[in-house]
Amino acid sequence: MLNMKIFIDSGNTDEIREAHDMGLVDGVTTNPTLASKSGKVFKDLIMEITTIIDGPISAEVVSLTAPEMIAEGEAIAAWHKNIVVKVPLIAEGLKAVKHFTEKGIKTNVTLCFTGSQALLAAKAGATYISPFVGRLDDISTEGMQVIRDIRVIYDNYGYETQILTASARSPMHFLEAARIGSDVITAPFAVIKQLLKHPLTDSGLKQFLADWEKAKK
Ligand code: E4P
Repeated sequence: MLNMKIFIDSGNTDEIREAHDMGLVDGVTTNPTLASKSGKVFKDLIMEITTIIDGPISAEVVSLTAPEMIAEGEAIAAWHKNIVVKVPLIAEGLKAVKHFTEKGIKTNVTLCFTGSQALLAAKAGATYISPFVGRLDDISTEGMQVIRDIRVIYDNYGYETQILTASARSPMHFLEAARIGSDVITAPFAVIKQLLKHPLTDSGLKQFLADWEKAKK
């Protein structure tokens, strides 16, 4: 039986380090928005993350043609053995994914919004598919339904592409992803911390400690 892996969706090395110290992080996803928020040079940021987390680290290409994505992705992949090249789910991206797959470079196909897009990414040989559940919820479409669809499609045909539930915004996305059998979920640190919280845990602990103090008197 496989573990569901937890990736942190972040370009903030302080929070990546803190989540790592909690023993929760199997890998990291970044995107151009998160990387630009870090204020660091992209390569420096990714290399710093490799010193914190010994697991898959997604770094996204920003070119739009297959030859350019291939050149950019090969350069990024050469930075460190744990790097996964993140590629947008467009026709040129799939050509690049096919090339990376043939060369043994791991890929994360991003900006996926339907089961059929996910099928195409798997056919191109993607290592991970990133369906964006939160962004679908944002436009009144049930994001988690896409995860259910992809699970069925990949299981129907035995695709080994791993479902990486992305754009997760709440503990319910996390719980539902685990129920469906998503291989990985990536979530911001704030969401990872929310998973821990339960008011009955806090009030129960407070009561135990208060009773303990009383008994000692
Ligand atoms: C990660 O791979 C995605 O880029 C990220 O989860 C997108 O999240 P957002 O929709 O909250 O920006």
